[in-house]
Amino acid sequence: MTHDRHSYAEPALVRTTHLDLELDLDFSAKVLIGAATHTLAWSGPGDRLVLDTRDLTVLSVEGSTADGWEPLEHNLGLPDDELGSALAIRTAGHEQVRVSYRTAPTATGLQWLEPEMTAGGVLPFMFSQSQTIHARSWVPVQDTPSVRFSYAAHVTAPPELMVLMSADNGTQSRRTGSYDVVMPEPIPSYLLAIAAGDLVFEPIGERSGVWAEPEMAKRAAAEFSDTEEMMRVTEALFGPYRWGRYDVLVLPPSFPYGGMENPRMTFATPTVVIGDKSLVSVIAHELAHSWSGNLVTQDSWDDIWLNEGFTSYVENRIVEAVYGTELAVMETAIKQHSTVVKLDPLSPAELAVELPGLNHGSEYHGTTSLGPLKGCWFLSWLEERFGREVFDPFLRGYFDRFAFRSINSEDFVAHLQEHLLTPRPGVVSAEEIAAWLDEPGIPQFAVRAESDRFEVVDRLRHSWLSTGELPAGGKTWTTQEWLRFLDAAPDVLDAEQLQQLDREFGLTGTANGEIARRWYSIVAASAYTPAYDELATFLTRVGRMKLVLPVYRALSRTEAGREFAARVFESARPGYHPITTAAVQKILAAAS
Ligand code: BES
Ligand code: ZN
Repeated sequence: MTHDRHSYAEPALVRTTHLDLELDLDFSAKVLIGAATHTLAWSGPGDRLVLDTRDLTVLSVEGSTADGWEPLEHNLGLPDDELGSALAIRTAGHEQVRVSYRTAPTATGLQWLEPEMTAGGVLPFMFSQSQTIHARSWVPVQDTPSVRFSYAAHVTAPPELMVLMSADNGTQSRRTGSYDVVMPEPIPSYLLAIAAGDLVFEPIGERSGVWAEPEMAKRAAAEFSDTEEMMRVTEALFGPYRWGRYDVLVLPPSFPYGGMENPRMTFATPTVVIGDKSLVSVIAHELAHSWSGNLVTQDSWDDIWLNEGFTSYVENRIVEAVYGTELAVMETAIKQHSTVVKLDPLSPAELAVELPGLNHGSEYHGTTSLGPLKGCWFLSWLEERFGREVFDPFLRGYFDRFAFRSINSEDFVAHLQEHLLTPRPGVVSAEEIAAWLDEPGIPQFAVRAESDRFEVVDRLRHSWLSTGELPAGGKTWTTQEWLRFLDAAPDVLDAEQLQQLDREFGLTGTANGEIARRWYSIVAASAYTPAYDELATFLTRVGRMKLVLPVYRALSRTEAGREFAARVFESARPGYHPITTAAVQKILAAAS
């Protein structure tokens, strides 16, 4: 097992095996008052338990005795900006330790929304986002993916709000103000999740459904109506879905990610609910995590490609099985293109830092995704070389063997050697494998996805740029064709070009967030001010980092853009999640 440098916990000495949570949601103070009771498995002397915390007020710490609870001596360490504070507790091999605490209104893992920031506008909303190391800001835990535990929670909240967690929530949206949930499978702390708001349930299939605000529920269920089929095709490829139900909770637009694979209850951005299913690969992705990530988990954040790279691969297989090869290939080509564009300008030294060999640990906090993309590309390459009849059972065997365990890259590489490379010699060379695992960048011999439709788009873009003739058929392009058109266009266009495109295709004000982030990035880098009002509306309405950060980056390229960005940020900021706020501040600070 690797040591996790992102946690103070000492899992070699003691591990939480089960967690009992009592939580009360106080919307007026924007805090959560909690008690976390850890059931422990000791392997060391039993004299101390160290938990991760960040900005928690510890009210009491107790240990279980034969006839009740006794207070335990404890010390909350000085806070580190990144890691928070270690809570060191003096123990005597206690079977259970209970920490009573209160969160800070600024907890990095929680967002408390005023009613105006919801679709309904009447009731408040709150949700968590624990990945990567934010669970510690709302629960004192061993906040490392190398420790897994089951959990049960009793939550109280204002009676007009529905509470959901990453657990079995049933399908009844009866509001009582008092909720009990159970997660019987052992999960790592970053999959702890909670949300509360005006939420109703809309079924999709036998095992799946949508939770959302009433105004959104039916539309979301229609957008995600293929979820049950996605589950079936993934099971056929990679083995049973082992989590019972799979539901999707659609959050308000400030949710900082596209999706988060909270077990049994994916949290999702509303920006993919646009009426044409063209962005539902986000659901394929989060569902895929039920195998890669939630079932087999990287044991430290340095090996996150084991989660995200495998998931990106499985996502694409799901998209192919449900929507066809053409869409799957276009989506792969889009990812590969964005990787190559990011890598191109890097010097060899930078490349070694940004994208080392997969076996050499690279950090990813959800804002850039080079490591996961390399991992995905590696798996596609193996699939190509060995053929699906060999590769698919291999991958399924991997999920079965390591189910409900946390592993590192070396565990995967050993499994790869034993179950694929050794039994099938001569298919790939040791040098090729080393190029993926030990060398920086994307290997020269990696095969690029080729899409016929994108060749057409590329041709039409070239001729538009040289002759001014607008792409014929653009009005009927799929989302992915538009993404390609914009991705491979110059960063900066002149005002006539932008105006011409906009007049014909109405890009400014688009409801499609993936198109919007590309279009507004070009608009910003080109200082095309006629679209700035809508650009500002977009940055204010949406808080999903992948959509807003590129636009802030593009604005930061010019002096005037920076000033404009700072103004928009000031007014958008009250609606942003703490991690979006921090990420935007970093961009604006770097630029000034
Ligand atoms: N688990 C990730 C989100 C994440 C990664 C949060 C790293 C914090 C740190 C999630 O599954 C994800 O990858 N979401 C993507 C979806 C996309 C790749 C389809 C997103 O949010 O855009
Ligand atoms: Zn993911």
